[in-house]
Amino acid sequence: MVEATRTIHWVGGLDGVCRLIEQTLLPGELVEIDCTTKEQMWDAIKRLAVRGAPAIGVAAAFGTVLGARDSQAGDRAGFLDDLQQTLDYLATSRPTAVNLFWGLDRMRRVAHATGDLSVPDLKQCLLDEALTIWNEDRQICRSLGRHGHALLGEGETALTHCNAGGLATADYGTALAVFFAAQEAGKTIHVFADETRPLNQGSRLTAWELQQRGIDVTVICDNMAGQVMREGRIDKIFVGADRIAANGDTANKIGTYSVSVLARHHGVPFYVVAPTSTFDMATADGSGIPIEQRDPAEINRGYSEPNAPAGVGVYNPAFDVTPHEHITGIVTEFGVIEAPDTAKILDHFRKHGVLADN
Ligand code: MRU
Repeated sequence: MVEATRTIHWVGGLDGVCRLIEQTLLPGELVEIDCTTKEQMWDAIKRLAVRGAPAIGVAAAFGTVLGARDSQAGDRAGFLDDLQQTLDYLATSRPTAVNLFWGLDRMRRVAHATGDLSVPDLKQCLLDEALTIWNEDRQICRSLGRHGHALLGEGETALTHCNAGGLATADYGTALAVFFAAQEAGKTIHVFADETRPLNQGSRLTAWELQQRGIDVTVICDNMAGQVMREGRIDKIFVGADRIAANGDTANKIGTYSVSVLARHHGVPFYVVAPTSTFDMATADGSGIPIEQRDPAEINRGYSEPNAPAGVGVYNPAFDVTPHEHITGIVTEFGVIEAPDTAKILDHFRKHGVLADN
């Protein structure tokens, strides 16, 4: 089996560091950076050194540890005040991926549930929780792969958008887990990866990950997805998610919505693959999902030479929302919710004991 992607992990004990792959340099350079303060983690999340919804949730948890361990508070009440400041600060890094807020909330809950621990013990307890979140994510990704690859037949070709791989999670991925699991099950598959402008997570990261694992991958520009579907080359579409509203409307990287419209037009099944931590049951539908607006320079320059004149007007929403009616099924760590809507999602949560307040 191919070695796991070391996207993000903790090195050492409470005085350790959070080590992560500097994703802005891929595929040219595979470099790791160490975060030792909450400010460094905030910056890493903001500028997409670490990115992808589940990985952002893990980063939020480790960032909380980095902030909490610097607290000089001598008692529990003072420590919890400092902790809240760290949580509020990290919550401002990116708005759309709900896993960020889910991770922060888990850290807050565990600290408040600890009874009468000393401040040093509280700090250790937060590190333990962050490591649990990291470990759970790795296991959940394997389950997503197991459930998802049953949907992809021998010899089939899939299309994916952005990067929902090991780099977007603690390792192994969500949508890409489907391909990895299919390969491990001995299936021969082919993947088309949308380039995913403006920052090319598809061509830089997805193509890199699939190539590393020896999966046959073809990169296309985003505006070619319709043509390859019309040519009959795509059997299924698998994408990740940044936030899924209670009715199944799904925010994912900008361009996902267009792919879903094309899929509907061409009769291609469209699957979202995401852990239950990506559901936001407090948001009724996609209209309530905040869409991150990013620096216009990402469009003018991206990570390369200028490709638009300086000073030109630019609009750069980083995500869009795919209506649940366009979604054939949502694959979670527990199975597939077919033709998702509020009732089916609630039923899935109930059946598998997931709290709907996450
Ligand atoms: O801006 P990014 O690179 O963080 O966007 C990532 C995506 O849109 C992914 O598809 C999504 O987070 C799912 S990751 C398993």
